Amino acid sequence: MSNLEIRTIAWDLDGVPFLWNPDQPRFAILLNQISFLAIGFERYICRATRKAETQITDPEIAAESMLFRKQEAVHSAAHKTHVKALIKQYPGLQSTLTKVIQIYDDLYDAHPLEFALAHSGGLEAIFTPFFKMVLDNRAVLFGGGDPRVVSLFLWHFCEEIEHRSSALAIYNHLVGDYGYRLRNTRRFMKFSKSLVDMLLEDFKVHVPDVPESCFKGDPFASVPLSSKLRSTFGIFASQAPWHNPERQPLPDYYQEWLGHWNNGDDVTRLYGNAALLPEPPVPAG
Ligand SMILES: [Fe+2]
Ligand SMILES: [Fe+2]
Repeated sequence: MSNLEIRTIAWDLDGVPFLWNPDQPRFAILLNQISFLAIGFERYICRATRKAETQITDPEIAAESMLFRKQEAVHSAAHKTHVKALIKQYPGLQSTLTKVIQIYDDLYDAHPLEFALAHSGGLEAIFTPFFKMVLDNRAVLFGGGDPRVVSLFLWHFCEEIEHRSSALAIYNHLVGDYGYRLRNTRRFMKFSKSLVDMLLEDFKVHVPDVPESCFKGDPFASVPLSSKLRSTFGIFASQAPWHNPERQPLPDYYQEWLGHWNNGDDVTRLYGNAALLPEPPVPAG
């Protein structure tokens, strides 16, 4: 049976700064890009997975699929909370969000279901080696950040690792054509990159008080080269026909995060620089 858990968490992100990690401004902006992208991509995944579920004949994959889709829907809603908090401060970003959702909706409508399943299967396989690098280097990337935003991403990245096999299992069950997925991989990557680039340009327009220098450079400049190379190798390996997400090396932090969750700790403010949190309201009287 699938061990995925649906965790609905009350995120409190109202008023979080656009540059939520002053020590890592380029990385903070990249994760803001990911927040916008996640809303569109996860909505796209949910639409495809829901349709796939009408065709899945294996009960275990059907159960996994439903839980996977629900996790993604919860992620999309959580990132909407983050993005809405940014739009409140920079109203021009509403047009950016509308654009991202429309682009994914158009992509979904333009292709058959197997295209969307290959897209989600291929990209979801990349997330484990990519997010492992981020989580392994959390001290440098997240340590100086606003705990409210940091905790949102730590939770999401851990759940991506948790459901790392789901999308590929659905694709392999319903389509199973490795060649089709491989032939489209470059297209999926190009599509994601064009959206990431578009988001950066939109931010420059709609968030004018961020210095131009913050939009430049490598978001992972502070990450050791060995860690980046391992991640890059893992990303390429994740697209091989023999790739099994279950056998991936996982970041230690995944178990640590689960420990916090099982302990009942407040996962909305789990990590980061607590000095950046707003002052609690003074009790009346
Ligand atoms: Fe997700
Ligand atoms: Fe996912």
